Amino acid sequence: MKKIFLYGNWKMHMLPKEAESFCSELLSCSSEKRYDEKCIDIALFPPFISIAPVVRLLPENGIFKAGAQDGWYEDRGAYTGAVSMDMNRQIGCTHVLVGHSERRSIFGDTDDIVGRKLKQALQKGLVPVLCFGETLEQREAGQTLAILGKQLLAAWREIEADEIKGNGSYPGILLAYEPVWAIGTGRNAKAADAQEACAYSRQLFKEHFGDTMNCPVLYGGSVKDSNAAELLSQKDIDGALVGGASLKVGSFLAIYDNYRSASL
Ligand code: PGA
Repeated sequence: MKKIFLYGNWKMHMLPKEAESFCSELLSCSSEKRYDEKCIDIALFPPFISIAPVVRLLPENGIFKAGAQDGWYEDRGAYTGAVSMDMNRQIGCTHVLVGHSERRSIFGDTDDIVGRKLKQALQKGLVPVLCFGETLEQREAGQTLAILGKQLLAAWREIEADEIKGNGSYPGILLAYEPVWAIGTGRNAKAADAQEACAYSRQLFKEHFGDTMNCPVLYGGSVKDSNAAELLSQKDIDGALVGGASLKVGSFLAIYDNYRSASL
């Protein structure tokens, strides 16, 4: 069975106290279920205010990671409301989401800004999870793969293979294919369509950075226990970036458990 990357994007949910209870429950459930790091990698992406308790409560090594949902590309300065990649690192994050579709559509992150954030995350020693995906209009116009290619190549413009090769046992970057129309809508992509998009992205990654390069490719967009087994068993899907279903330990872990029991 392949290793699964189960990543929870809490978005603007979870106060520090709620994050603390979540972590205690997560730790007890996962030790009961005997998860180990060869099989699963779990990362939580709390809102900034709840990162510190998550970092404090999760063990430093092993299967659990803490990440930020975004980060600005300068270290310090007159950027009201922003938190830098450096600050994310200082507070104890190891990971960061870059280019989530809500950042792109609501907060105006262009391909250029996404590229700068990605570069800065890598320079600060964070493992970026680069999010990309097409809108419904683009899918219906048959432009999906062209759009994914455009977003990925723009983000990688300033990145060298050396910066993202990881350390042998852990990747230096992850990709998260998230079709915009599937995020928070309850309507996930068909497994075959998600597989096609993830396979294409992996192939493009190899063509761009070199044939020996690889990285985990996650699918995101209305992932839940009932569709997890089918999505996660696709050849080129290595995990899930989960929004709504990551807010409760039960529904979050059920995603992995359903995949695991279907694959036994
Ligand atoms: P969702 O969100 O699981 O609620 O669709 C996914 C995401 O935005 O990462």
